[in-house]
Formats: sequence, C-alpha cells, structure tokens
Amino acid sequence: MVPKMGAVCEIGEHIMGAVRPSREEAFSLLKQYNKNEALIKHALAVEAVMRYCARKRGLDEQMWGVIGLIHDLDYEQFPAQHCRKTEEILAAQGWPAEYVRAVVSHGWGICTDAEPQSELEKVLYTVDELTGLVAATALVRPSRSVLDMEAKSVKKKWKDKSFAAGVNRDVITKGLEMLGMELGELIQDVIMGMRDVADEIGLKGNPEASG
Ligand SMILES: [Fe+2]
Ligand SMILES: [Fe+2]
Repeated sequence: MVPKMGAVCEIGEHIMGAVRPSREEAFSLLKQYNKNEALIKHALAVEAVMRYCARKRGLDEQMWGVIGLIHDLDYEQFPAQHCRKTEEILAAQGWPAEYVRAVVSHGWGICTDAEPQSELEKVLYTVDELTGLVAATALVRPSRSVLDMEAKSVKKKWKDKSFAAGVNRDVITKGLEMLGMELGELIQDVIMGMRDVADEIGLKGNPEASG
C-alpha cells in the first residue's frame, strides 16, 4: 500500500504535498534504526552508486541518493517485515509517496509485489545486489580496493556461482533486462559509484599492493 498523496505544493522543496527529505535527514534516520556497520556501509555504497547513475543520466542526483541511502532502513530491526516496515516508517515521517514507492520496489518478488517501474526503481533493484558482488570481488584482490579494480574482475566472479553465493544473480539478470543494459556496463557504473566513497565503505584498500 502506498500512502495517499496530498495537494501539490508550489515550494521547491515540496513535492506531492510532502517535504522533500534531505540527505542529512535520511542519514540520521538510517543511524537511528541501524547500528550494524556492514549495513551502514551497504547503504552508503548503494547511495553513491545511485548518485553516479543519476548523474550519468542527467537526473535528480539528490533524490536518487537519498532513496539509495534509506532503502534497507528496516532490515536490522525488522528483517521479517523488510520493506513493509520501511514503508510504514517513511510514511509516518511524511516522506513523499514517490520516494516510499521507490524504496519498497527494491524488494519486488522477494518481500513486496511493487514492480520497479521508473528508471530510478529499476536501477535501485539491480544495483542493490550488484554492489554486494563488487564489494566481495574487491576484498579478494591483493589491493582489497575498488580504486584499481576493473569490470572484468567482477565479470569473472559473476560466472563462479559459488563465489559470494548470497548475491542473487537472477535478480541482477532480471534488472538488466528491465534496464536494457549489459552486465559489463552496469558493473562499471557500480565500480565508479563505489570509488566515490571507497574510504567510507572500507574498500579503499592499498592499490599499491596490486603491483
Ligand atoms: Fe533490501
Ligand atoms: Fe540493500
């Protein structure tokens, strides 16, 4: 269920009758519900990739980033109600319906029936899983870094189904079809986005070690 939309307001920072959430607001909400470092790093990685993908398309970088940052808000405390609990929390915070729907749609076919429709939703759905494969690949390299990593290293690991087996490759394949993109191109975008926050997500490593 998506919350009802209010009247459209003319002020720039208001859309669909709700205040456009700021990055600061999203981050403090994330910290309020999440203490697990790994989950926070995942959120930061997805945020950075969403920002990169928005920038590449000339779309709303701030909105894409905020949605990426908040997408797993409920996962630490309410794993059994994943997505549904976030919908409730964000609606209670007065977040715009467009943001809430986008967040919920990342669990399509897994914990919700909200199919990704917009470009933003399709990208979120696909890169959510792909950031996991890119991070896992970086960590087994001598440099333990995304800064000097190329897409072909990740593609090699993609084929090895026993590597990072928790990464749902079917979800990524479905997402790529929706986006009409090739795996190699999206891997490259994910790497580029993650490089922007390499230090914060623990994937700066030591590129010199790659020799
Ligand atoms: Fe999730
Ligand atoms: Fe996620």
